[in-house]
Amino acid sequence: MYRTHNCGELRIEDLGNEVILSGWVQKGRDLGGLTFVDLRDRYGITQLVFNVEENKKLTEQARTLAREFVIKATGFVRERSSKNPNRATGDIEIEVTNLQILNASKTPPFTIENQTDGGEELRMKYRYLDLRRSNIQQNLIFRSQLALRTRNYLSQNGFIEVETPNLIKSTPEGARDFVVPSRMNPGEFYALPQSPQTFKQILMVAGLDKYFQIVKCFRDEDLRADRQPEFTQIDCEMSFVTRDQILDQFEGLTKHLFKFMLNISLPDFPKMSYDEAMERYGSDKPDTRFEMEFIAFTEIVKGHGFPVFDSAEYIAGICVSGEAENYSNKQIKELTEWLQRPQIGCKGMIYVKYNIDGSIKSSVGKFYSDEQLNSWFKIANAKPGDMLLMLCGETEKTRKQLCELRLEMGRRLELMDPSKFNALWIVDFPLLEWDEDSERFHAMHHPFTSPKKEDVDRMLAGDHETMKALRADAYDLVINGSEIGGGSIRIHDRALQQRNFDLLGFTREEAENQFGFLMGAFEYGAPPHGGIAFGFDRLNAVMNGQNSIRDFIAFPKNTSGRDIMIDAPSKVDITQLDELNLALKNIPE
Ligand code: AMO
Repeated sequence: MYRTHNCGELRIEDLGNEVILSGWVQKGRDLGGLTFVDLRDRYGITQLVFNVEENKKLTEQARTLAREFVIKATGFVRERSSKNPNRATGDIEIEVTNLQILNASKTPPFTIENQTDGGEELRMKYRYLDLRRSNIQQNLIFRSQLALRTRNYLSQNGFIEVETPNLIKSTPEGARDFVVPSRMNPGEFYALPQSPQTFKQILMVAGLDKYFQIVKCFRDEDLRADRQPEFTQIDCEMSFVTRDQILDQFEGLTKHLFKFMLNISLPDFPKMSYDEAMERYGSDKPDTRFEMEFIAFTEIVKGHGFPVFDSAEYIAGICVSGEAENYSNKQIKELTEWLQRPQIGCKGMIYVKYNIDGSIKSSVGKFYSDEQLNSWFKIANAKPGDMLLMLCGETEKTRKQLCELRLEMGRRLELMDPSKFNALWIVDFPLLEWDEDSERFHAMHHPFTSPKKEDVDRMLAGDHETMKALRADAYDLVINGSEIGGGSIRIHDRALQQRNFDLLGFTREEAENQFGFLMGAFEYGAPPHGGIAFGFDRLNAVMNGQNSIRDFIAFPKNTSGRDIMIDAPSKVDITQLDELNLALKNIPE
């Protein structure tokens, strides 16, 4: 028997009992007469004690233990003389009577502690050691429980979990596909699913009514803290539903998960249109935990001889509360330089400080009277002590830049309270996005998204400009500035789907070749349907107040898409390529 208890379990009530524990050596302390060893497993840490006077041989054996040795210790539970209130087992220790080394360990390349000294790459290479750290284990436990809760909730709400294939034909979700060669079909390839989108729609045509799946998706796109090439979705689809029924259902799921996992009762989620989100925050995933909403100045500041404003299409700013006299010239300069980095690309920033005594200090004081500047404060609802920061230029670009500035000020002023969760729905996205470079429309969500009912006729018959104004029956769930989920009501009519493919620049042949199966299915009684997918990794991270999803994934990839531990991707043998018909000579014309 390796253990009678785990390392997080024993309490004062167990005093005097003989127990066996197994685990890893966290650390040892040799105080001459007494040797202490902290023994760790997934459940916690228990202190072992060896007394040289009572058992010299055993104590000498304990002194040979080093970090991460795997041991089995038998002994008696006794009360500690100096208790550790920070540890669940801190009232007791084990007086060891027998010690067995189950496996030795090399010295680990970094400390196995929550605040480790290991760099990212090193920890990824030795992921099995990194995963021994308690905070990462807690993340994986959280993830496991979140999945279980999700399954229970959806199952209780009549959803059935259906597995869809991983070797499929490409689904266009906007990223590149990972492709897999087919040995049995020379020169042909499968794609790994970017999402099970078309399959879940087919399941609705098949009459499954309510589907869900916690499913791996694969996208060959540039990585960021909240993006991995393989990630997990809670993927769902429902038949005979309106948009609001879908939103209610998944608001219900989200509230349930927050209540069960964090004991937080979220209030009802507001709905904000895409246009309103862009106007107020310059983003379709606004962090609404703090204010500093955009203030439009275009109309009132133009035409007073300040050339930068006079030539700008759009002028807007944010009001930074109480910072007029805290923010030095040096800080303003540094902030301006931050905005001028190529990643953001501002030409400059204008500030107007409303000092406590009512005086005004501004970078545009030459062009505007105090009276005019005071009228700006009025528009901005600024009080003495506040500061306006303004940007100008082409509308879309400037909104993005001002959004970055708002978020940066939020970070600097610590306005993003990690214990606060602000969820909202962004609705009424544009259906199509015009791309100047490729001179093509792109689907803002994906090509299966339906226009809003009132836009269907305009979509079937309208001209180019009309297409730009079409609204989609699409929605995103945003929590604390992170896009947690996205979905839409789908097209279920062949003619409308065909029209969408036409607009997206597919030839009839390409559309038939890639999506003939779906359009064919629409001809056999497809019900009205819609759905949503949550980014499961992101939901985990956001619920734990973190930006990076990596530590909620057991084996994530690094920013170059590599798994450093197993060294993938890697080269394959020429014979393997040959078998897959990938050696150049075998690829058919
Ligand atoms: P979408 O592409 O918006 O929709 O994806 C849904 C959610 O998945 C998460 N997500 C990611 N998480 C980690 N790494 C990535 N690379 C990544 N890409 C996306 C986001 C996002 O909101 N088929 C549609 C859903 C539908 O219409 O029902 C889809 O996949 O949180």
